[in-house]
Amino acid sequence: MKILLIGSGGREHALAWKIAQSHYTAKLWCAPGNAGIAQETLARNGEAVECVPISAEDLNKLLEFAKLNRPDLTVVGPDNPLGMGIVDLFQKEGLTIWGPNQKAAQFEASKVFSQDFMEKYSIPTAVSGSFDNIEEALHFAEKLEGRCAVKVDGLALGKGVFICHNMEESKASIEDILKNKSFGLAGSKIVIQELLEGMEVSLHAICDGTHWKLFPTSQDHKRAFDYDEGPNTGGMGTYSPTPFLSEEEFYQTAQSIISPWMKGCQAEAIDYRGILYPGIMLTQSGPKVLEFNSRFGDPETQVYMARLESDLVEMLLASCNGSLDTVNIKWSTQSAICLVLASGGYPGKYEKGKIITGLKEANKLPNTKIFHAGTKFASDNIVTSGGRVLGITTWADTLNEARQRAYHAANLIHFDGMYCRNDIAQKALSFLKK
Ligand code: AMP
Ligand code: GLY
Repeated sequence: MKILLIGSGGREHALAWKIAQSHYTAKLWCAPGNAGIAQETLARNGEAVECVPISAEDLNKLLEFAKLNRPDLTVVGPDNPLGMGIVDLFQKEGLTIWGPNQKAAQFEASKVFSQDFMEKYSIPTAVSGSFDNIEEALHFAEKLEGRCAVKVDGLALGKGVFICHNMEESKASIEDILKNKSFGLAGSKIVIQELLEGMEVSLHAICDGTHWKLFPTSQDHKRAFDYDEGPNTGGMGTYSPTPFLSEEEFYQTAQSIISPWMKGCQAEAIDYRGILYPGIMLTQSGPKVLEFNSRFGDPETQVYMARLESDLVEMLLASCNGSLDTVNIKWSTQSAICLVLASGGYPGKYEKGKIITGLKEANKLPNTKIFHAGTKFASDNIVTSGGRVLGITTWADTLNEARQRAYHAANLIHFDGMYCRNDIAQKALSFLKK
């Protein structure tokens, strides 16, 4: 099969790595890809993965490319093209493409849509309200004594959520979005949620319109610095599975969320084919959904691909054509961890073009894969080109072993300004020791 993968981050490198291992794959393009993706070769014929310089958001050029090259399957990594309707566009041309269509992608593209849906179908979530009126929003925030999460309705590159602890902070956020229009059209509405406390975990379910299959649990570390301090980022590290949900709690949680969600989709004629990734808070009064994403998490995908034993292409095809019930998805029993190496200054301003050394040495370690996120080639070097630069992914029989291996690999890699969190999976290990 000829496959086109869209995106350029660590998530897409992990997907490319796994797609390249599939016996189905005879050709793989990635638009636009990165330096790591460009170094992958296909298991079937040894051919290199070809990076195509088209941005993931340039839907017209992507379609033009697909019409010319006729991939048998297109796989969409990031949320933006999904929200822009790439799936509908490709399907109109008779092209097979994996990911939710525009109506289904609203679960991530509109927080108002998602929150209304959760309430309508009794999916456990935070007490919340949706507003386009400043006075009403302020009144609701006051009822929560200012302790709330103020969220921009539309896609905002992960920067549209404000965690507020008092009225002063919530007023500032509400006015910034609704009055100052800091997020433009994406912020013409907001969702305000009560502040939930607890441990945050990630769930992923692959869906085919009717059936869904759960992935194992994972946990991301969203804040930039150790002990969950500093600004929110796209994710600084993950591990899977997480001990914070027992096997039974995990299935109960998923049933309480995904079952009513799927019923709701059918009632609303939402044909959801792709990944549903709910962010969950494990609160004292049970698990609650913070948000829905309509794509693979990044860096959750890196640990999932490290643990996936089945053929990814077969799974994605089954998700496209409604036959997930016939596919047996197998996961290794090992633990995997992904440690993100970031550019100094991220998630704020950072410099690019720093030479990266030590990649070959680190990649030689056993059970280790260095996924690239923000990297590119410059003459004979691989240099930084983004905030999250690399995702060191390792796996072992125990989480502790996997973690030690990841930090060992990190010691071999260097670029100016490089930083990572030192406490990825630390809470889980302390919990396991108890
Ligand atoms: P979201 O993009 O909606 O997942 O929000 C980004 C991050 O903000 C989440 O990963 C949580 O850490 C935090 N967050 C979002 N909503 C809430 C909430 N209602 N209570 C506490 N923290 C939240
Ligand atoms: N892991 C965070 C995200 O993908 O949104």
